[in-house]
Amino acid sequence: MHRLSLIALTLTFATPLLAQQAADAIAPETAGAGDSFAGLSDAARAALDTKAAGKPVTAQDWMIAAANPLAVQAGADVLAAGGSAADAMIATQAVLGLVEPQSSGLGGGAFLVWYDAATGKVTTLDARETAPLAVTPKAFLNDDGTPMGFFDAVVGGLSVGTPGTPKLMEVAHRRWGRTNWADLFDDAIELGTNGFAVSDRMAGAIADDAERLARFPATAAYFLPNGNPLPAGATLTNPAYADTLTQISQHGTAAYYTGPIAQDIIATVRNADGNPGYLAMDDLALYQVKERDPVCVMYRAAEVCGMGPPSSGALTVGQILGMLDTYDLAALGPDSPESWRLIGDASRLAFADRGRYMADSDFVPMPTAGLTAAPYLAERAALLSGDDALPEVAPGMPEWDHAMLLGDDIALEFPSTSHISIVDSFGNALSMTTTIENGFGSRLFVRGFLLNNELTDFSFATHDDAGYPIANRIEPGKRPRSSMSPTIVMQDGKPIMVVGSPGGSQIIGYVAQTIIAHLDWGMDAQQAVAMGHGLNRFGTMDLEAGTPLAELEQPLADLGFEVKVGDLNSGLHAIVIDGETLTGGADPRREGIALGE
Ligand code: GLY
Repeated sequence: MHRLSLIALTLTFATPLLAQQAADAIAPETAGAGDSFAGLSDAARAALDTKAAGKPVTAQDWMIAAANPLAVQAGADVLAAGGSAADAMIATQAVLGLVEPQSSGLGGGAFLVWYDAATGKVTTLDARETAPLAVTPKAFLNDDGTPMGFFDAVVGGLSVGTPGTPKLMEVAHRRWGRTNWADLFDDAIELGTNGFAVSDRMAGAIADDAERLARFPATAAYFLPNGNPLPAGATLTNPAYADTLTQISQHGTAAYYTGPIAQDIIATVRNADGNPGYLAMDDLALYQVKERDPVCVMYRAAEVCGMGPPSSGALTVGQILGMLDTYDLAALGPDSPESWRLIGDASRLAFADRGRYMADSDFVPMPTAGLTAAPYLAERAALLSGDDALPEVAPGMPEWDHAMLLGDDIALEFPSTSHISIVDSFGNALSMTTTIENGFGSRLFVRGFLLNNELTDFSFATHDDAGYPIANRIEPGKRPRSSMSPTIVMQDGKPIMVVGSPGGSQIIGYVAQTIIAHLDWGMDAQQAVAMGHGLNRFGTMDLEAGTPLAELEQPLADLGFEVKVGDLNSGLHAIVIDGETLTGGADPRREGIALGE
């Protein structure tokens, strides 16, 4: 990652606020990287240049923003030909699984938020992985009852949940597709067959993870040919992936969830050397994408809508924003330690509730409405009215028609994942966060794609020290709690922003901050995704190194925060919709672009 943070100072800005945010901007990872993406259209190359200059991309008809230019171009071609946002998502996801395999793909899961222009309705689809039906509550405990080491559980078959992404592509296409299903895989099949250049980011991720990738022969053969990590720029083909996509394109996802591909997935999981898992053919055959009610919370004049349980995303983003709604962040501005005190402690309070209450609500009763009810958020917001950091935070008592004692979750999540934002020419909007969990997931590679390690998003412990059950404990068929926060911000019944990010549990702070940056601090889509990050999940105030936010280290420590300055590797992709104008931003910390027409 390149952090030449001051290059944007060469641009002229009208106000001190925006000058500050120019200084906040991170130099794009894609600066000068055009040659890594051979085959890009002139428009996509221009989008790379626009991002390198710290500017947003603007368009009138359609727009897409995602983590890799080749994947964006596949989606853009679909949109330009009259396809819907759902069609474009499928083409983009198919290419992402090839060119950014460490983050998402056919072996993972996703959440999708859809705004339908014809009906004005927001719909959310849950394609989260499920725990195998044969799993036991002690799956992630050692024989002595202590939790397993995180990576001991991650690497191998034990962590693999039933993938949801292929089924989501199919369900979204059935509901909202306009393009012939089979055609949506052409670009990915062509790239898998004829090859693509390994990007800097993919090469860096392989090199960093070489030891774990070497554990399994099929994984090592693909990512570490002759024992060496694939270098950036190497031409890589993946005929097995092209074949898997060809079968899905011709026969639908039945070709994936039943038959030889499913058998290979199960054999890979069950025979994983040293760490076999529980996944079975029935788990795949029974897998369902679930439509859930969106979770929407008012912030300023807008309604922030996203994915409810099993994601903690929309509830936690909504709680943070709902508490901050009573404070004038616009007047305070992004440079003020007071703004970050409020954001930091609102986030800590929301994360305390998340740790206690949020899990798969099909398995665990949840106070879903109570957590974002206005009186409850006002009560929690009142805790922020002092001058200093809260000495301690605890979960609150939201209104709930269910008596239940719960312990607090200790699930670990490491940054990974990918996000796709799309607006199509019909006015539909799509926000989808997609993942195989950890970088390279379980490290198991089959039929040209990696299998997820999503089950390690469950709490390894089933009960806390006092014996109270943990809501996010593993159970057969249950979906692990997520932090993924695909979001559509609505105003007057219309979408005004589409946004989301990878980043494990940091996703929540990244998304909340980007919404604040746009709605309160007036930043455009590119400024909002590029500004330095400040997060607080569990007490430590994390400030992004190399940005002016790091200069708040001492002022925030003086307010009583424990402060840590370090990398905060978001992958935000945002589209702002203002009347007829679409403005897109792609996170400079990653390789992606926004592209529109
Ligand atoms: N595995 C990342 C998340 O779901 O939050």
